[in-house]
Parts: sequence; C-alpha cells; structure tokens
Amino acid sequence: MSACNPDSHPCKAIPAAFAVADAAAAPKKRNREIEAGRADEIPLGGRKIVEIDHLSIGIFHLRDGFHAVRNQCPHQGAELCKGSIHGTHRPSDVGEFEPALDGRVLRCPWHGWEFDIVTGKGLYNEKDRVLAYEVRVHDDGRLTVLI
Ligand code: FES
Repeated sequence: MSACNPDSHPCKAIPAAFAVADAAAAPKKRNREIEAGRADEIPLGGRKIVEIDHLSIGIFHLRDGFHAVRNQCPHQGAELCKGSIHGTHRPSDVGEFEPALDGRVLRCPWHGWEFDIVTGKGLYNEKDRVLAYEVRVHDDGRLTVLI
C-alpha cells in the first residue's frame, strides 16, 4: 500500500479549490484581444474549440457568461475541452450533501481530472490548474479572447 501524499490528498486539495472558486478569481489580465467568432454560435451550456495564435482554446457558455480555458490537460496533454461538464459537491459530513459549482466543472476525457472552468483551478490537487482566459462579448455579438 502506498503512502498518502499529504500535500495532494483530496481532503486538503478540495477545500483549497473551493477557496479559489468562491473568490471567483478572474483569469490573469492579458492584453492581446483576439477575435473568436460570435456569441450566438455557442448556445447556453455549449462550447466551441478555436485555434488562436497556435493555441487551442475552449470557449464555454455558462450561466454567468462566457469563459475560456486552454484545450490541454496539465496531466498528460489530452484535449481537455472535449471533456464532459458537471457540478460537484463540497466536502461534508456523512448524510449531508452540498452541491457546488454546478455546470462549471470540466472533466478530462482521458483520466477524469476535474477543473473549474471559471478559474482554471484543479479540484483534486491544489497545485494543478489549466490556463483560463477572459472572454468579452461585444455589442455587435463578436466574441474576443484575451491571451
Ligand atoms: S490527460 Fe487529463 S487527466 Fe490525464
């Protein structure tokens, strides 16, 4: 039986991930604004994967607006943005169930690592994250991503 790594154990990592998610930390501000299509191309709950400046980026239409993350899982490089979208629940006592992050948890299609689409924060290890980008919706319906 292998020893548990206390730094990455879910008991420690999950509360750290929620601390980031609860703060709704915006992605790091970037200056290059790149055209990424139109908002009406992505229905609520949908996504679109675009190639921007040699980067593959997934744009997601969540309930609170549009968000983007890099389409590369930090584990072994899978196309993360092709994964399924879920919610999760907060750590709780036996018999309690507290749903959280509904509709904003992206699960990698290869090995199931999960990330908060809004912040890019990994939910299993506080050190894992995927790059998240700010998305702007313009009055004329254009979408731009800041990279
Ligand atoms: S490549 Fe994404 S979890 Fe392994």
